[in-house]
Order: sequence, then C-alpha cells, then structure tokens
Amino acid sequence: MATNIVTSIGNEGCVKRKKNSITTEIQLTEVCAGQINGECNKTGMFYQLTLLFVSCIAMIKNGFLVFLMITRNEKCRKRGFPYTVYKLGRNKKHVSSLFVDGFSKWNAQAKWGATTCDSLELFYHYQERVFPNLGNNFEGFITKWWIGKMENRQAVTNRLKMVIGLLAVEISKQENPRILSIASGSADAVIAAIKKCPDKDVHVVLIDVNQDSLDAAKKAATEAGIVNCFQFVKTSYARAFTYLKTFKPNIVEMVGFLDYLDDAMATRLFKAIKNGLPASGVFLTCNIIPNKEKIFLDWVLLWNMIYRTVDEMKTLVDDAGFSRGKSEIYLEPLGIHQVAVCRK
Ligand SMILES: C[S@@+](CC[C@H](N)C(=O)[O-])C[C@H]1O[C@@H](n2cnc3c(N)ncnc32)[C@H](O)[C@@H]1O
Repeated sequence: MATNIVTSIGNEGCVKRKKNSITTEIQLTEVCAGQINGECNKTGMFYQLTLLFVSCIAMIKNGFLVFLMITRNEKCRKRGFPYTVYKLGRNKKHVSSLFVDGFSKWNAQAKWGATTCDSLELFYHYQERVFPNLGNNFEGFITKWWIGKMENRQAVTNRLKMVIGLLAVEISKQENPRILSIASGSADAVIAAIKKCPDKDVHVVLIDVNQDSLDAAKKAATEAGIVNCFQFVKTSYARAFTYLKTFKPNIVEMVGFLDYLDDAMATRLFKAIKNGLPASGVFLTCNIIPNKEKIFLDWVLLWNMIYRTVDEMKTLVDDAGFSRGKSEIYLEPLGIHQVAVCRK
C-alpha cells in the first residue's frame, strides 16, 4: 500500500508528488526542471558520439602520460594511479584535447580547477558569467559546445539550486540555525539559502583546505551583508570531528566532497555527523551518479571522482544509522546528481 505525499524543494513554490511506501525505505524524489527553474537539455546522438571520440583519444594520450609519470617519478610511483591522474590534470600547461581545453581558457579552467571552486564556479554560473562573455569565434564555439551543452554541467547547476532550496527549508525549521559546512568552497549555496531566511539568526562555520575558496566565500558573504554570521576555518575536513563537538551544529552541509571520499572514510564521517547532530538535526550531502559522460570527466577533464548509485548512497545513509523513514534522496532532473537529506 502506498500513500501520496506532497513535498516542496525550497521556497520556489515548486511542488512534487511522490510515493511513500509504508515499508521503511529512504524516500526518493525525482525533481523536474520546472520545479527548480533548472536545466534539462538532453544531448543527442551526434553530441554523445563526439564526446566519446574526444574522450577515447584523450584516454590514449593521457593514459600514456600517466604511465610515463609513474615510471619516471618516484612520488607518482609511490602514490599510484589516482594521484598521478590528479597531478596531470592540475597542470595548467597540460592539454587533454585541442578541441576542448586546447583553444578555450574556460574549458581549460574546468580541467585544471577540478576539486576547487575555480572549476565549480564556472559550471554553477556558466549562464550569467561565462556565456555572455563568449565571442563568435572558435573559443566561443567549443566553450558553448562543451561547458554549455554538457549534461554534467547542467546537472551541477541543478544541484546548486536544489541545495539552496533544501537548505533554506532546514534553516527556517530551526529556532537557532547553526550550520557546519564541510569542504565549503565559496559557500554559494549556504549564502544564498541564508539570504532566503532574513528573519533567522544563523551561525555558520565554513571548513575548507583552500584559502582562495574561503576568501571567495568571505567576499560573497560581505557583499550579501551577512559576513558576521560566518567563521572561516582553513583546515582539513578531519577537523569536522572536533567542530561537531564544540560548535554543535544542527545543520551539516557537505556538497561536492563526498565524491572524493571512499566508502570507509565516508561511513566514518557520516557516523560522526549522525552522532554529533541533535535529534532535530539534519545532514545534507550529495554524490554524482554513474552516467554516460563519465568517460569525458575521467579522461578529458581528469576529474577522478567516486560515482555512487542511489542504492549505494542509501547504504551509506543507512550504515551511519540515520533514520530510513525520515531521510530523503532527491534526484536532479537529469538524474546525474543526488542530494541526500539525512535525519536521525
Ligand atoms: C568541488 S568543491 C565543493 C565546494 C562547495 N561545497 C560547493 O558545493 O560549491 C570541493 C571543495 O573541497 C575542498 N577540499 C578538498 N580537500 C579537502 C579536505 N581534505 N578538507 C577540506 N576541504 C577540502 C576544496 O578546496 C573545494 O573547495
């Protein structure tokens, strides 16, 4: 037997019906583009063939370079394949493909900026900040072709919009919202969500290893007139264990980082977050899902992430001891990113 329930993503007035089984299962909600003012322009066969072609050539070229680095460099040999791929991709002089990053500084930035807000910002704000600056030349064409059309870029933009909405809902529910943002980057979602709740006295700790990301967050929070809510901490995510005990957050947000944690690390962190949250607390996180453009992300952009299916995400949430009945997973319109809202 199933009952229909109504849920909304944020304050956008977007409402989606979903089925809630009475067997205890983590709720799965598929969000439509219209609900979040998102993007869902699926690419056709020709686009996917060019993506596959460019990715295969890059796989041969970059695979060979990685092999050379491992055989010639002691550190690469010791730290292995993922480290070597990471190191190659972050080299600003390296070119994966002339038709992608060879002649477009934007596409190149998407590659060398991986794992930092340099790359994510470009994707989040492609429509407002990148597209209007593109000319009618080859660089403009290949930037529009790859960053503009790529389903993964659209999906990340959708994810941002969903996280803003979901966070705003959680902030408005808490009497004294205290947010811990792990691997915060420039905190786009946290800042936008707080702005949606002007009557709330919010306290936030942002944790990130990258000073430039924290500086960008500080600048954005200052421009939004809410910088006094924030504490900026340059440290590794491992310090989150301490902040869970001392800061006592009731909302923990970790977006764009689980994709780099293996199951053992993720489970340890999820358990600590679950134990550190009060009964009314919530943990909001997300993960990329295996998808047809993975080969491009792996071998052209050299973003080596850990992809998880919805069932694998459910297992992480479940293993940490979050309540199945109260936790939810939201799928963005292209089905490439999932956002988990985990409750005790
Ligand atoms: C993909 S970005 C996500 C940023 C932000 N949460 C968002 O969704 O917009 C990943 C962030 O993790 C940070 N990071 C990488 N390794 C980290 C670590 N060991 N501890 C804390 N932050 C880390 C990077 O500096 C970067 O800002």
